[in-house]
Amino acid sequence: MPASTQARVRDFAPPASADDRRQRILDAALKRNAFRQDALIEVLHAAQNAFGYLTPELLWYVAANLRLPPSRVYGVATFYNFFSLKPPGEHTVILCEGTVCYMRGATRIGDALEAAFGAAPGESSPDGRISVAIARCFGSCALAPVLVIDGQVVGNTTPELAVGRVQAALGA
Ligand code: FES
Repeated sequence: MPASTQARVRDFAPPASADDRRQRILDAALKRNAFRQDALIEVLHAAQNAFGYLTPELLWYVAANLRLPPSRVYGVATFYNFFSLKPPGEHTVILCEGTVCYMRGATRIGDALEAAFGAAPGESSPDGRISVAIARCFGSCALAPVLVIDGQVVGNTTPELAVGRVQAALGA
């Protein structure tokens, strides 16, 4: 690895200490992609996977290391709904709002989850127990509307079924 590349990961205060495993994962992603600006999405994925969500410190660190304007990094991180700038809830609910799920009532399911748990789509509940994310299509349109609760696919969902399944996941 060129000396300039070695030095670059230390150009900006890292979000965690150098021996922190999460930091090593992020730095490895930067190096693996040779600090290329077109690797921004891959590096942000690595950062989110390692740290759980994208903190302002992470965005600054990625921007400095890829030599991109922070506004560009922030713009990409907020444009794609698979990136989160907030800590995830203890349980994750992903609601599909793709065309077929939307036509079959996904919005009513999102409304029901918000009413029951206080977590609007894209947000976490105030107690941090669940977060609700939005997806654009799981490729399971025959089961629409589709919800994924802690990795478990729930098809043919109704608002009542969705709330019941999330309550079960919460142990309520
Ligand atoms: S639109 Fe929801 S699974 Fe395809």
